[in-house]
Parts: sequence; C-alpha cells; structure tokens
Amino acid sequence: MSEQHEIAVIGGDGVGPEVVAAELAVLEASGVPMSFTHYQAGDDCLEKTGQAMPEETVAGAKAAEAVVFGAAGKTAAEVILRLRAELGAWANLRPSKAYPGVDCLRPETDIMIVRENSEGLYCGEEGERGPGVATATRVISDAASYRIARYAFEYAQANDYSKVTAVHKVNVLRKTDTVFLEACRRAATEFPGMIYEEALVDSVAMRMVLEPAEFSVMVTTNLFGDILSDLAAGLIGGLGLCPSANVGDGPGLFEPVHGTAPDIAGQGKANPFAAIFCGAMLLKYLGHVPAGERVEQALTDCLAAGQATADLGGSLSTMGMAEAVIARMGQ
Ligand code: NAI
Ligand code: MG
Repeated sequence: MSEQHEIAVIGGDGVGPEVVAAELAVLEASGVPMSFTHYQAGDDCLEKTGQAMPEETVAGAKAAEAVVFGAAGKTAAEVILRLRAELGAWANLRPSKAYPGVDCLRPETDIMIVRENSEGLYCGEEGERGPGVATATRVISDAASYRIARYAFEYAQANDYSKVTAVHKVNVLRKTDTVFLEACRRAATEFPGMIYEEALVDSVAMRMVLEPAEFSVMVTTNLFGDILSDLAAGLIGGLGLCPSANVGDGPGLFEPVHGTAPDIAGQGKANPFAAIFCGAMLLKYLGHVPAGERVEQALTDCLAAGQATADLGGSLSTMGMAEAVIARMGQ
C-alpha cells in the first residue's frame, strides 16, 4: 500500500480548521502517503461566496478516497447532511470510551454506537396538517436496517466485542420498529457467535447512566443514535473526546462530534483529541490499521500522562497536543 491516498479536507468554521490542522499534522507524521486538498464550506464560505456548500466542494469530496471534516456553524445541517447524502454515507460510527487520566462520570464506558444515517426521522419529510400542527415522517426500510445491522455485527466481530444491542421503541413505533427489529434479527442469525439483545431506547438511556458496562456495540435508528451518542459523550467527559466516522458506498467522512466552539475559536485552545482520533479512524479505513492504532495509543498515553488541553485541565495548546501525540508515536 504505497500509493498516495487522496484526501479532501474541509476545515469549516470556528475551531474546525484549528483541530483539523492538528489532525493533519498527526496524519503527516504517521508516514502513510497522503495528499490533502482543501475545500471550503460553512458560514464563512457562505459569506464569501454566497454558498455554504459550493459544488466544487461536493465534487472534490466525492472524487477523494476519504474526507476530513472539522465543523460548520449555523450552516452545519446543510453542509454535513448534504455531504453524508452525497457520499452515500449510511453508517455513522460514534465511539465513546473513557480514558485513564480524564475525570469522568463512568470510567467503565466503552460503547460504539452504530447509527443508521440515511433515513429514520431525519429523512427531511416534514409537513403541516393544519394551522399550528406539523408532522414529521419516520422512514424505516428493511434494506437500510439490514445493512446497518450487518455492519454493526461485522464491526463487533472485527473489534473483539461480544454483544450487539438493537435499540428501538417497538411498543409505540409498532410498524417502523418492527421492520427495523426483524432486519436486525435476520442479521443476528448470520453471526451465531455474537450475543444479540434488543432494548427499548428509554430504558437504554437509564441503563447507560447506571450500568454502561452492560453495553458494547449498539445499533439503532437515526434520531435515537444521535441522542444516545451525546449521552455516551457525557459519561466519558464530554464532546471533546468524541470522534465519528460516516461510511457507506462512497468515500468515508471523518468528523469530530463537536461543533465550532465559538467561545474558544481562534485562541489555539480547542481540544484536538476528537479530530486526531478521527485521523486514527481514517488510517484504519484506508487499510493502515497499525498506523491507526499507533495514533490511538499515543492519544491515550498523552491523556494518561496529563498532556491535554485546558478543557480537560491541561495546559497544552491545540498544536501542542498534536506535537505531544507525534512525539509519542515514535516511541
Ligand atoms: P459546540 O460543540 O461547538 O460547543 C459546545 C461546548 O463545548 C462549548 O462550550 C465549546 O467551547 C465546547 N467545545 C466543543 N468542542 C470543543 C473542543 N474541541 N475543545 C474544547 N472545547 C470544545 O456546540 P454548540 O455550542 O452547540 O454549537 C456551536 C456551533 O457549532 C453552532 O453554530 C452549531 O450549529 C455548530 N455545530 C456544528 C456541528 C458540526 O459541524 N458537525 C455539530 C454541532 C454543532
Ligand atoms: Mg448530535
């Protein structure tokens, strides 16, 4: 694998370009040959060009092997939802793992939420039934549910997790979540070595707080996955520690879960942990698993040694954190 990987980079707004610069520095230090092409999107881009998501950016992202994204401000929905759709990224992976050295609510947490990214309540079908009454459509298909469930089992198998939990609300959403669960059960029969369990989303929310170690890989529909992944972030010490990957039929898209952090933007204070972790996920996605693991290990070693940014009680700048990670990668 000596060919150069073509990566599209969209820093976006606020701390987005800052954390992405830290991520790119670490990727460059990984020794994996990559070329980065930068594209614009987001609020600043809207102001400069009249468009939050220029066609050139969409085309550049689609032509790349993978996309690195930072954050976008008010225009986040039009930028990121468009990108996920254009790239056919139907699976959203959101790991939440507690790290030694970080003060957090639940140090035993190690949960991967596999969220269906292409349909559910986020399919964009909202309407009005009359004055003061609005509706939203929840689309759940067997094909998309089976595809995401299989992905969750494959992920669990490849990463030494023993259990997949399908999270649903079938007692109320009888038709849509019956489709979802039947697809999950079909996928489960294809992975006989794996424990398969089903749980109601409301009880999962409570159990995640009280006994997070009960969960490892979760598979769920779009809205539930969005909410539960932020809950999981709260258990491990906040959004600054949460990367995410969007994968599917086209180039993978790697983005921290956090936004533009306008309160600290432009000060070199942003925590690049999530973005650098996205870089580790990107390396694995490109087939460079040992390089990705080296980055992950260096990141965790930094936190364990108290090398962190101010949000985690440390004194490093954004780039200082990248340098600390790079220094450990060589060890
Ligand atoms: P946010 O994630 O930007 O910030 C929430 C809090 O976490 C703030 O106190 C911020 O300082 C802190 N924080 C976030 N990332 C951090 C980092 N890397 N290091 C240290 N502290 C960090 O969410 P908020 O304030 O709700 O949204 C701000 C803007 O970001 C909005 O315009 C929103 O639309 C956008 N947004 C974009 C997202 C994306 O591009 N994927 C996701 C979420 C929000
Ligand atoms: Mg969210």
